[in-house]
Parts: sequence; structure tokens; C-alpha cells
Amino acid sequence: MKLTADFLVIGTGIAGLSYALKVAEKGSVLLVTKRQIDFTATRLAQGGIAAVSSVDGDFTSHAEDTMVAGADLSDPEIVDLAIGMGPKVIEDLLNWGVEFSRNDQNKYDLAREGGHSHRRIFHAKDATGREIERALVAAVDKHPSIQILENHIAIDLITEVINQQQTDEKRCLGAYVLDIEAQEVITIGAHFTVLATGGAGKVYLFTCNPDVATGDGVAIAWRAGAAVANMEFMQFHPTTLYHPNAKSFLISEAVRGEGAILRRSDGTAFMADQHPLKDLAPRDIVARAIDHQMKKYGDDCVFLDITHKGAEYIQERFPTIYETCLGYGIDMTTEPIPVVPAAHYICGGVQVDCHGESGVNNLFAIGECACTGLHGANRLASNSLLEGVAFAELAAQTSLKRLASSQVEFPSIAPWDSGNATDSDEEVIVAHNWEEIRRCMWSYVGIVRTTKRLNRALNRIQLIQKEIIEYYWDFHITSDLIELRNIATVAELIVKSALQRKESRGLHFTLDFPERDDLNCKHDTIIPGASPAPKQ
Ligand code: SIN
Repeated sequence: MKLTADFLVIGTGIAGLSYALKVAEKGSVLLVTKRQIDFTATRLAQGGIAAVSSVDGDFTSHAEDTMVAGADLSDPEIVDLAIGMGPKVIEDLLNWGVEFSRNDQNKYDLAREGGHSHRRIFHAKDATGREIERALVAAVDKHPSIQILENHIAIDLITEVINQQQTDEKRCLGAYVLDIEAQEVITIGAHFTVLATGGAGKVYLFTCNPDVATGDGVAIAWRAGAAVANMEFMQFHPTTLYHPNAKSFLISEAVRGEGAILRRSDGTAFMADQHPLKDLAPRDIVARAIDHQMKKYGDDCVFLDITHKGAEYIQERFPTIYETCLGYGIDMTTEPIPVVPAAHYICGGVQVDCHGESGVNNLFAIGECACTGLHGANRLASNSLLEGVAFAELAAQTSLKRLASSQVEFPSIAPWDSGNATDSDEEVIVAHNWEEIRRCMWSYVGIVRTTKRLNRALNRIQLIQKEIIEYYWDFHITSDLIELRNIATVAELIVKSALQRKESRGLHFTLDFPERDDLNCKHDTIIPGASPAPKQ
């Protein structure tokens, strides 16, 4: 089957849905998503969206906090651009019907999280992402120009070389997409392809990301020839619920923003001597401090204590966290919550310019799968939702400007060729390799790294990669196999980037180079796109 659209958007979190809504007045949009439309990381976001919301607000301190959290690797121009768009982003979300929490004076109740010097986070109690996703899904659902393809997973991008002299100059023409239920590959031709596929937490054994976070956008863009940047900066959220059945449920940083204290099992608070902001230090510092405490005292977790705020306040401000913890037998109003760090957000991704466009023409990447320059070596809490809408706007403006003159025709695109592939009778290989990559990444490429551990991880992953490639061409593709191929690619990109950074900065901490080295290393880590792109 072959479909065409003006805009192909892959991913349906805040970035993809915002982009779709912004361009749908001017052209046809195909929205592709691996599961149901709202099965996204956005829906799980608790804390909120950091934004200075009025034109005379304090943009300077938000920019400074972003630069400090990013360990001076953020691009100052991009920081000013994204943070300056705060008023427009909040206005867009309100226009789409998002309802943020208000205080007793009926003003927006602004929260604070780690690394923020001021209260500037718009939230909907402790389920901000759920509210945003609800409103945006309702808006796209009723838009006549937007067609939604659920249970469809992108396999690879379709590109053509546009300059024979400069053979690496390419244009994106769409993507091959697997209809998971029908097991049929669809060829989609589009003037503009937008990757909004979210993060890659599933590359690690422990993550608070949803199951769909397999780094698909980064992997397919890289295979199509787009460079990726700063992949070594995986953010570990300091506080996810430690419980055998909880699947790393997030305990929002907003809980610390409202005064919660991290303690060891004997009750000792340990953040006071780590950073002037104590429990509200940037995430890399808090996650490392927890890791250190657990290793030093041989504990399985540390504890987050907000009991001093009283039951009524806690139940009203954090209803989702309260109910979820209670479901696991933990009453956070009377006892501290057991917590551990888990993979949460990748600051690197497809390298894009200030319009969200990658190195492949007409291929945009927005949201977590992109590296815009905003987050540097460590993302400031709640800046991600802001970035998602801001770059959706910038990408939409650029693609709309170009749409009128777009001359691309799609009949020449070759349909998917499955060659001599047969059905596999060895699905166990996929499950086994998946588990091995995630365990290896957790053990060797986690919060504290060494060159030896990274090399060990690289050897293992490259062996697994060989097996996957063989398997990939021999058997009919399934969504599990596509995701496995993507997590293996992303894992390798993370390790290779980490090996390149011979210093410790932000989220990359290595015992072999424990200091920051501004003289030699204050630059992004770039890995050029695969060349030539693998078959198909
Ligand atoms: C949280 O609520 O702690 C997560 C917010 C974020 O990652 O920005």
C-alpha cells in the first residue's frame, strides 16, 4: 500500500501533536504512532512545563538556570530563543484547551523543581502530561486534515540524493511504516517528515519511560544519514519508586520542590553538604549523590520524606503519586517513599538547527528525539515540554514557508522489498538480545562510568548488532525486531559518544576523567550519519 501526505509526523506526544495542529490548516497530515495515540511519555509527565509566561517576565533567570544545569554546554542563542517563546507556548496550550492548576487567588499555581531559582512551572496537579495529552488529542481528533494511524511503527526513512556533486546532500521523501496488526509494510510519501518519537529510556534496564521509548527517531534518522549529537547525556531521574512491582514509577521532582528531603534508611538527610540548593540541586548531582549513598552503605534505595507537609496538603497537591504509592502499600503522608534513580530523558538526539531541521533536507526532529542545543549536558527540569512546543512552532513555520514551492512528486518511490525473508521460528533471539543490551547499558554505561566499562559495553553491543543485522534480513520484520534494532543502534551511539568525551560534565561522569575540561572538551559530541545508509 502507498499513502501520501504533505506532512508525515511520527510520534504523538506533545511535540508531534503540536506540530500537526500548527500545520493542519495548510495541508494534509498523517500522524503515525506505535500504539494508541496517547501511549506517550508526555502523558506520564508529572511535574509540568517551565515557562516565563508574560513578555515582561524574568527570562534572564530562566536562561541562567538552564545554562547552569546544562553545565555550560547549552547553546546560549537556542536557550534565549526557546525560553523567549514561553509566552507563545503557554498561549498555544491554553488555546488548545489545556487547564493548568490555579491557586486560591485564581492565579496559575507555579511550582519549583531541581535547579530552578524561581517558581515558574505550570502544572496540572501532579499529572500535567495527562492533561496536555488529553487536550491535544481532542484537538487533533476533530481536525479534518489530520489522519491518525495507530499501531503503526516506522521502519526506515525514504531519502534521495539531491546533489550529485555533493553525494551526501539528501532529501527525505517519507518513510516505510509497518502496520503492526496487518503485518503489512506501507510506503508513505511526504513533503515533510517530522520525527517526534520521544526518548530512549528502554535502552536501560531501569527506566521510568513508557515501553515505546526505544529511540526510534534517533536510530532511523542516523541510518538515513543525519548526524546525532550529545548522546552520552542520558539523564537519570533521581527519584523513581523502589518497589518490585512498580516498574520505576516516577516520583516527581515537584515533591522535592514542595520541601521533601532525601534520607538514608537511618533517617540521615544527605543533600545538605552536596550542593547549595540541597535537595533541589540539578538532577545529575542528586542522582550521583543517591548512587554514592547506596553504594557506600550497601542500601537498595534511599527515602524521600515529605511527611512534615501533612496529609491534607499531600493528597491535594500530589493525588496521583499519593494513590499510586498507597496502591503499593506506602502511605507517603506518614512514611518516607523508597526511591532509586532510573533512566529518564536523553538530552542528545538528532542534531537539528534552530528550525528543528536535521542534516537531511525536509527531515525535522522535535521533542526528546532531537538535540537542539537547549539542554547541553543536563536538561533543567520541565524544560522538555517547553522545548517540544517551541520547536514544533519553529519547524512548522519553516515547513509551511517551504510547502508552497515544494515540487517533490512521489510516484518514483520504490515499494518496500522484503527480499527472501521468511517467518522466524526463533523469536527467543529477539527477547534475549533485548534483555542483554538493557542489562549491559545499566551495568556499564550508567550514572558512573569508566573507559574500561564503556569498552566492555561496546564490544558486547557490536556483537549483538551483528546478530541483529543477520536476523533482520533473513526474517519478516516485526515491531519487536524493529525496536530491538533501534535500541541496539542507540546503545552503540551512546557508548561511542561517551568514549569520545574525555572529561566529566553534567550527566556524563567517568572515574577516568573526573574533572570538567573546558579547554579541550567544551563542545558537542557529534556522530555523523551512517554512510552509506544501510540497505533499503
Ligand atoms: C518530574 O516531574 O520530576 C519530571 C519533570 C521533568 O522531567 O522535567
